[in-house]
Amino acid sequence: MPIHTTEHGWVLETQTTAYALGLNEAGLLTHCYWGARLPNVNDYPPPPSPRDWAFNRPAQLTPEEYPGYEDMKFIDPCLKVTFADGVRDVVLRYDSAEVVEGEAPELRLHLRDVHYPFRVTLHYRVHSACDLIERYVTATNLGETPMMLERIWSAQWHLPPGDRYRLTHVTGRWLDEMHLRREPLTQGIKVLESRRLTTSHHHNPWFAIDRGNADEHQGEVWFGVLAWSGNWKLSAEVTDFSSTRLSLGVNDWDFSWRLEAGQSFTTPSSYAGYTAGGFGSASRKLHDFIRDAILPHGHTQHKILYNSWEATFFNVDEASQSTLAELAAKMGVELFVMDDGWFHGRNDDHAGLGDWWPDEKKFPNGLAPLIKRVNDLGMDFGLWVEPEMVNPNSELYRAHPDWVIHFPTRARTEGRNQLILNLGRTDVQDYLVGQLDRLLTENNITFIKWDMNRNVSEPGWPDAPGDQRELWVRHVQGVYRVWGTLRERHPNVIWQSCSGGGGRADLGILRLADQIWVSDNTEAVARLRIQEGFSHIFPANTMEAWVTDMGQERLSLEFRFHVSMCGSLGIGGHLLHWSEAQRAEAARWIALYKEIRPIIQFGDLYRLRSPQTHAFSAVQYVSKDRSEGVLFAFRTHLPIPTDLPPIYLRGLDPESRYEVEGFTGIRSGMAWMCAGLDLELRDFQSTVRRIRRV
Ligand code: GLA
Repeated sequence: MPIHTTEHGWVLETQTTAYALGLNEAGLLTHCYWGARLPNVNDYPPPPSPRDWAFNRPAQLTPEEYPGYEDMKFIDPCLKVTFADGVRDVVLRYDSAEVVEGEAPELRLHLRDVHYPFRVTLHYRVHSACDLIERYVTATNLGETPMMLERIWSAQWHLPPGDRYRLTHVTGRWLDEMHLRREPLTQGIKVLESRRLTTSHHHNPWFAIDRGNADEHQGEVWFGVLAWSGNWKLSAEVTDFSSTRLSLGVNDWDFSWRLEAGQSFTTPSSYAGYTAGGFGSASRKLHDFIRDAILPHGHTQHKILYNSWEATFFNVDEASQSTLAELAAKMGVELFVMDDGWFHGRNDDHAGLGDWWPDEKKFPNGLAPLIKRVNDLGMDFGLWVEPEMVNPNSELYRAHPDWVIHFPTRARTEGRNQLILNLGRTDVQDYLVGQLDRLLTENNITFIKWDMNRNVSEPGWPDAPGDQRELWVRHVQGVYRVWGTLRERHPNVIWQSCSGGGGRADLGILRLADQIWVSDNTEAVARLRIQEGFSHIFPANTMEAWVTDMGQERLSLEFRFHVSMCGSLGIGGHLLHWSEAQRAEAARWIALYKEIRPIIQFGDLYRLRSPQTHAFSAVQYVSKDRSEGVLFAFRTHLPIPTDLPPIYLRGLDPESRYEVEGFTGIRSGMAWMCAGLDLELRDFQSTVRRIRRV
């Protein structure tokens, strides 16, 4: 059992790590340890004794597991509450504990307010194989009057005492997601957040912390995520008492939740882990966990798809799509996806969203003839939708103008000519379930790309049942409910999460979506960097990557294929504009990808040289049994003369003997890893090499 009850509290052990917490002398639930697993349960330190320093009482100095706002506490707390009588102070004390066995054993710690009928339960689940601890919180109003939750975060993660920590995170914008940032944490609070109603292109609820000396392959790293697709906040705080802590949760900005008598509020989960093996090891643990425990089809191989967007944009009809489908099928594509433009009144981005039935002019006989053609060609059929959105020029909006997020006295600001349906409302949820369920029931559709192409404005909900500000959470819960219901009814459909590219990439949505459309930027050099940032969090099977015509003047088809083959391969170029020779070349890359995709989609990822910092970059995938691997290397622009440094492979079995395509001789795994190999590449040239155990 990985959960131990000790003299002082509890120790949660994973395969190689441990997390200890307990009650200190003052009865506060205190963090004790998070790091490498120690030989004996008694090895873990007891809770630190309460400390005092002028102007700083123990409330400020104790590393509490879940601090509420009370006493002289000025650190960022996890919980802020106003009770019915106006008291804005929550005094939680330990009440009881229970251990629940299961696949992921769980420790539940019940805390209660010393005066008010208010219970907070801290949940800790142990995901042993991936060295992750999951935390979330349930708050229950046990009284008879409502109370307001003003902040209720999922977890506060404490680092060992120290003052040289470095935070790694990602930032970006539309077309330019996932820049890796690495910066020292200094005294004060560093906040990353989204106020956009969705996860956002700009930041991601993910962190990796090291002591300033870790790299891809070695060093202590504490890392974690928040599994939430709405407004979120990450607060990384360093105090003048050598304490560093990271809190994650639903954003408290403009947040309020009226907790009625007898009701509970449950936060999203935060997952976090520790490794001594550097940033690469942290990523691999997250990748395994996402595949094993989060994704609906984590071990289903993804098909090579063709998507029509960059070829035909809104100009879709049976003839144009059938022609593309024929060419795609000949190249070996397995799934044909028709993007935007197929539904009622949709000729450009000014109309149609909300009316999810086939456009009568473009598809006079519905989608069935096109789907049949695609199926006859041996491919599955997929479709694009944007369920949360509505154009004012649509039947839906004309019938239900009150269904959108709005303030009655304010203009309704449009983004891409569209407004956002309020999915906090159950009538809106039911409408969408009905429409999309019908689409999926009446047509043989096995793939849905679920898009979301704007962020929020005027976040009002005039007839909200509780506080209007609950919208931020209830909308996301509504998205989860609609999507989850459709998933249940159509369990074999593969779903993709898109929000103008990578605007909704998180572990909350990956419980519903199988893949993520990483960026609308499909230029392969830009994509190298974006994909690498993405790979710090998400596994390659979730990373959908198309070969398109962007950058074709400079980048060979080979280079563009190699970049996209690093994830779940797709094609998005205009196939009618490709020459016969290019289509034949594409067919060869597709055939190769089919052979190596299990290694890429399900293997271990090693970032050998970063495209964020080097014009010569390399990434390697190794099968779980270490019998096979694939190496990709890319050179963008380097001034001459240049000597490319050797590439040192990773993740091979040191004793086994391997051959690497293009190199003579069979060498031990150890030799390939320590002596390296030399590649020759010209500017904007790339290579893929298979690695095989012999
Ligand atoms: C978004 C997506 C694109 C495409 C368009 C369609 O921008 O990210 O891939 O689907 O919408 O309007």
